Amino acid sequence: MLESYALEDVFLDALDNISEAFVIYDKDGYLTTCNNKFRELYGYSKEQTKAGVHYRELGALDMVLDNVVVGDEFGSGEEYLKRKNEYRKKLKGSFIVQMKDGRWLKTTDRRLSKGGFVSVQSDITDLKRNEELLIQAKENAELANRAKSEFIANMSHELRTPLNAIIGFSSLLSAEVYGSHSDVRYQEYSADVGNAGSHLLTLINELLDLAKIETGDIQLDETSTDIAQITKSCQTMIAARAMERNINVSTKIIPADLSLLADPIKLKQILVNLVGNAVKFSHDGGRVEIEWLQQNGQVSLKVTDEGVGIEQEFLPHIYQPFRRSRIAQNLQCEGTGLGLTLVKRFSDAHEANLSLESKANEGTTVTIIFPAYRTEKYAEEIAS
Ligand SMILES: Nc1ncnc2c1ncn2[C@@H]1O[C@H](COP(=O)(O)OP(=O)(O)O)[C@@H](O)[C@H]1O
Ligand SMILES: [Mg+2]
Repeated sequence: MLESYALEDVFLDALDNISEAFVIYDKDGYLTTCNNKFRELYGYSKEQTKAGVHYRELGALDMVLDNVVVGDEFGSGEEYLKRKNEYRKKLKGSFIVQMKDGRWLKTTDRRLSKGGFVSVQSDITDLKRNEELLIQAKENAELANRAKSEFIANMSHELRTPLNAIIGFSSLLSAEVYGSHSDVRYQEYSADVGNAGSHLLTLINELLDLAKIETGDIQLDETSTDIAQITKSCQTMIAARAMERNINVSTKIIPADLSLLADPIKLKQILVNLVGNAVKFSHDGGRVEIEWLQQNGQVSLKVTDEGVGIEQEFLPHIYQPFRRSRIAQNLQCEGTGLGLTLVKRFSDAHEANLSLESKANEGTTVTIIFPAYRTEKYAEEIAS
């Protein structure tokens, strides 16, 4: 007997020392027991919360003490009362309310096996406040990020106009359209101006693309795209660079008349970026292969080189903007680190699967697998 009294004392002592408010009502709504935290939370005295007090009496007291609930986390009024009733019926999970004084209280009520119920309540005001601050911070960050992207988009656009004049007129100059230069060096310099301008234009275009993507303005202009044609025009763009370094770029397209439902401009950008990388990171005299293959409805594009490769540590960062591998930095070759970022976004926009395999000193293979619905055959099936 003595022992069981001791156990009850231990329980009561423990209840008074937990951080939550705790109260039990019997099946008729009379208070059986509660702890100090319960009194503290609502400002009740010991006398006011003695055993046998009906919950309605406490309710009346709440009016005096201004313990007024103004709503729950989703709002107030009728809807709140409905949610509260629903909760009372099921007693599943917890119910969070806000008090008139600004405090947030979380209540967890459970029915007891012999009638009545137990309620555990805690003050989660600090948690709620932190949550609000976090949400606010996130919204601010998103706004700032959007403003940045819009700024880049506007700037890029403005920069392009004068650049076109620089590129256009430098090409007139280097071509000596209106008569030959008095010194051969002028010819060389005007060509340099033109090349630098073109490089800048590429960079600006990439920035503009990235900014457009980030502001969610990426839209596919899809049409049936002739793969052989697009590959050929990409090869033409790369040819001079490849020839300079005696790099052989070969193409395989199976079947030869392959076509794909895609945005031709973006598809070409993907291809030019990938083949451009393959050539840039090849050794002199190296080989690059472009392979298009239709198999089981799916179309895959593979661009393979036997060049310098990529160190393993860099692979997780490969699609992040402005990132370049240590190997690439050591080579001191031109680049912005935006190409693969764009390839990844454009490939995602086509719902294609992009993957990259690479080993330092052995070479790199980039593969893009387009979903079956992008093949011409499939599109025809749907049309009929
Ligand atoms: N074919 C490749 N071989 C070796 N490294 C590559 C290859 N393609 C991409 N990379 C690495 O990934 C980086 C990012 O590629 P990309 O975004 O196209 O940037 P960029 O070509 O402007 O350097 C490159 O700087 C390079 O380090
Ligand atoms: Mg690149």
